[in-house]
Amino acid sequence: MEDLSLHVLDIVENSINAAATFIRISIIEDAEKDLLTVEIEDNGKGMTEAFVQNILDPFCTTRTTRRVGLGLSLLAQSARETGGDISVKSVLGKGTVVTAHFRPNHIDMKPLGNIADTVTTLIAGNPQIDLFLQCSCEGRGYRLDTREIRAALEEVPLNASDVLCAIRNDLIEAQQDIFKPHPGLGSSQGAGNVSL
Ligand SMILES: Nc1ncnc2c1ncn2[C@@H]1O[C@H](COP(=O)(O)OP(=O)(O)OP(=O)(O)O)[C@@H](O)[C@H]1O
Ligand SMILES: [Mg+2]
Repeated sequence: MEDLSLHVLDIVENSINAAATFIRISIIEDAEKDLLTVEIEDNGKGMTEAFVQNILDPFCTTRTTRRVGLGLSLLAQSARETGGDISVKSVLGKGTVVTAHFRPNHIDMKPLGNIADTVTTLIAGNPQIDLFLQCSCEGRGYRLDTREIRAALEEVPLNASDVLCAIRNDLIEAQQDIFKPHPGLGSSQGAGNVSL
């Protein structure tokens, strides 16, 4: 996986496949502690404790199209390469929380990538699901809540093109404001000027 935004896309896909109706994505950097925490929480169908215990094994999947499931094991690999780790907590019938810790100053830290495109893509493809995004770094913060946008739009769907365009522009600006380029994060290929 090239950057963190693609990991986020992948992990949120798991929540969508688990029939979540609400997904919270949080990306919090504590520069002083050299810690970037990415967390994805959903209210989907959850998993049993026994299933969660093996979840980082690539052969642990409920996919029917192929025998391996790579999303969580690749995220764990990316986090561990920096000296971080991931944790998965789930309650059957209630939901799941995936938390990944990264060390942004590590040489193997991946760039954040294009969070604006990831979130816009998710909203465009799943307008019925509510997303709550929170980002923060060094006192700078941003939140996007599709429940609020949905209420303000009344009859207009979330995936109407001008709505998506406005959401994407807002996200691009927020990402530029919040996450300053980081020596350990390097630069991402092909994600425009919002990549860090
Ligand atoms: N949020 C979630 N809610 C419920 N089950 C989940 C969730 N995330 C993962 N799972 C379960 O864990 C399995 C492994 O997930 P993982 O992302 O590693 O692989 P995958 O989704 O099966 O395949 P891939 O990510 O390669 O497309 C999934 O098949 C699914 O059964
Ligand atoms: Mg997956």
